[in-house]
Amino acid sequence: MTRITDILSTMDYGPAPEDSSIVRDWLQRHEAGFGHFIDGAFTAAADTFAVTEPATGQQIARVSQGSAEDVDAAVKAARRAQGPWAALPGHDRARHLYALARHVQQHARFLAVLETIDNGKPIRESRDIDIPLVARHFYHHAGWAELIADEFPGQRPHGVCGQVIPWNFPLLMLAWKVAPALAAGNTVVLKPAEYTPLTALAFAEIAREAGLPKGVLNIVTGDGATGAALTGHPGVDKVAFTGSTEVGRLIRRQTAGSGKALTLELGGKSPFIVFADADLDAAVEGVVDSIWFNQGEVCCAGSRILVAESVAARFTDLLKRRMAKLTVGDPLDKNTDLGAIVHPVQLARIRALVEQGRAEGARIHQGTAPEGCFYPPTLATGVEPASTLASEEIFGPVATLTAFRTPADAVALANNSRYGLAASVWSENISLATDIAAKVKAGVVWINSANLFDAGAGFGGYRESGFGREGGREGMAACLTLPTPVAQTPEETPPAPDASPAESLPPAAVDRTAKLYIGGKQARPDSGYSCAVAGGLAPLGNRKDIRNAVEAARAATGWGGQTGHNRAQVLYYLAENLSARAAEFEGRLRSFGQSATAAKAEVGTAIRRIFWYAAQADKFDGAVHSTKSAHVTLAMNEPVGVMGIACPNAFPLLGFVSLVLPAIAMGNRVVAVPSQIHPLAATDLYQVIDTSDLPGGVINIVTGARDALAKVLAEHDDVDGLWYFGTAAGGRMVEEASVGNLKQTWCEDGAARNWAGAEGQGRTFLTRATQVKNIWIPYGE
Ligand code: NAI
Repeated sequence: MTRITDILSTMDYGPAPEDSSIVRDWLQRHEAGFGHFIDGAFTAAADTFAVTEPATGQQIARVSQGSAEDVDAAVKAARRAQGPWAALPGHDRARHLYALARHVQQHARFLAVLETIDNGKPIRESRDIDIPLVARHFYHHAGWAELIADEFPGQRPHGVCGQVIPWNFPLLMLAWKVAPALAAGNTVVLKPAEYTPLTALAFAEIAREAGLPKGVLNIVTGDGATGAALTGHPGVDKVAFTGSTEVGRLIRRQTAGSGKALTLELGGKSPFIVFADADLDAAVEGVVDSIWFNQGEVCCAGSRILVAESVAARFTDLLKRRMAKLTVGDPLDKNTDLGAIVHPVQLARIRALVEQGRAEGARIHQGTAPEGCFYPPTLATGVEPASTLASEEIFGPVATLTAFRTPADAVALANNSRYGLAASVWSENISLATDIAAKVKAGVVWINSANLFDAGAGFGGYRESGFGREGGREGMAACLTLPTPVAQTPEETPPAPDASPAESLPPAAVDRTAKLYIGGKQARPDSGYSCAVAGGLAPLGNRKDIRNAVEAARAATGWGGQTGHNRAQVLYYLAENLSARAAEFEGRLRSFGQSATAAKAEVGTAIRRIFWYAAQADKFDGAVHSTKSAHVTLAMNEPVGVMGIACPNAFPLLGFVSLVLPAIAMGNRVVAVPSQIHPLAATDLYQVIDTSDLPGGVINIVTGARDALAKVLAEHDDVDGLWYFGTAAGGRMVEEASVGNLKQTWCEDGAARNWAGAEGQGRTFLTRATQVKNIWIPYGE
């Protein structure tokens, strides 16, 4: 007798293709080729290249390769439109964004089908995930446009934004970039990826239909050369890029010293951690949503499955069985789970990486896929953590599976990556899950869930996954800026100080020679050299000293984990100890030629500033976002890590305090290079620090040639962030030299800020000293 369960388990689905005729008609109407969308109108198609449908390999359109002149015309149109757009009341900009959201919803089916044809992703995903999120993004940011003056007082838009996006979520990435930029009052020139430009062009039509003023949004199509012309254009004020880490590095180098603001959303190799007490069936579905979602072409895909040893065999078995049931094929079919790979080039890349993995000894388990530009869901077992498959971003439906013994092993494996974009943690024990969430180095952590996105939550990574956040308040903040102080007389650093061997100096002078401060102890410089500075001799630190200081800072891991209250207490103590020695510090500043009044004011402000940051240590909190139903999203302010800080020459005490204090208040450890001209105001602090219970290694001080030392910090892979307040040339050098681990930088002219005034203190410094980790936790029904 046939049972119903037998019927259900053997039942096959008939094809259920989505009707694509409206989109095919639209493509037909544009048979002559698409031009760019500049200043509210489409240009004539020129120098076109083919856009193909990944599922069939057929050409579906021709689009124009944007030249430098096209980019220039678009940037100029955006510039002309920017003033009037920013001058609109926020409410009016909000209405434009609401209109965009509504029009996206009206065209939702068209956009979903076009996205699926152009990118190859299953219609279920473009219809149920991509396009609804696009509309959500415009609605959410319409709200921000309404609230900007209240929520971001004193801030202004950057101006013209140059945005370059990838091919994996073509329209969603456009929405992520365009909505906040426009809400803030910027105008935009956007370049979609060459494989998938069509929904951006359709969106341009929609924007025109919705009445968006001309020039506010411009779309220029083309390849990497067009992208480079845009990101390098001098008329662009802010560059936002999503794509490969390799291109992210090129853009970091290209924009160095240009004064352009920059956010980079780059690659990932995210861990998917399954503990023994997890709901394994739910975790299997989590894997499906994580690495087999969008053919694995997802920057935050859980491509490294880490599973507790005791359940590894069972979990692997469940996964293999689930994998065998996934349907790979026609993306327009509503039953399809995995569609086509975006382009044969990407398919070849996935194949080559998997073959390399096989050659390195990985066991490859695969589902099935039809002929053509398709790749089966794949699980690789027996992989070493350092192997190709476990370390390279594949951007295909390929996961590795590795067993771990203890939670500590799981964290070590999870963090064994140069990336830090996302992580997914599965356990029914909330204490364990949140403990792991805190320890994983990733910008987004999903607990018992995967790949959840919402316009109200920030998204973005740590380390080589880039910097900056998109979505939520943080994403909005990245589209705004406070007026940057401009130096009346730009800072000039004197030539690197002359070295005088300490032994050649008269004994009295040697005695007065200050030392470096590393790991809570005074240390002689490696070189053995000192140099004459105002008021005495300062050690001439070198590369080795910086390395030692970074090592000491790295080792001071406990500081970031202390409560804000504990950190506050230490900082209050520091402020009190400086108060007790105020006269001595005033004397030091007077020895630099400051008047008694100026010296008193600088020391007094420095003391108050330490109190202010001590007060902030337990108050500069994150937020809880209501995002998806049955979830809360915790936006936690985490320290950046080990920070290098090169201080301005002016305000030798106050400049140092204004930069180092916010950093350590937020739990960072610091290697500071004080004023090159007047370093002794900082070296006098050693005893104050020693008597303040500050753990060794939290503040390290290396005196000497500021730019040379800043370069070593910029190039050091164990430095996570670098603030440089020196010369324009030095700033460029720092931005260029920091491409190695893509550390966050903040470079300004050291003479620009009035450190004694309001601009020397505030939340800006705390924001810069933190990065937000968004943790999604199941909550309620
Ligand atoms: P890509 O980073 O080259 O392309 C992304 C965008 O950058 C495209 O619009 C491209 O035209 C543009 N671009 C390329 N060179 C540029 C330059 N020098 N200046 C400015 N813009 C430039 O990524 P691609 O080649 O499409 O994919 C290669 C690999 O990158 C993938 O296999 C994947 O591993 C990774 N990738 C990661 C993404 C992410 O979101 N994390 C997105 C796309 C790719």
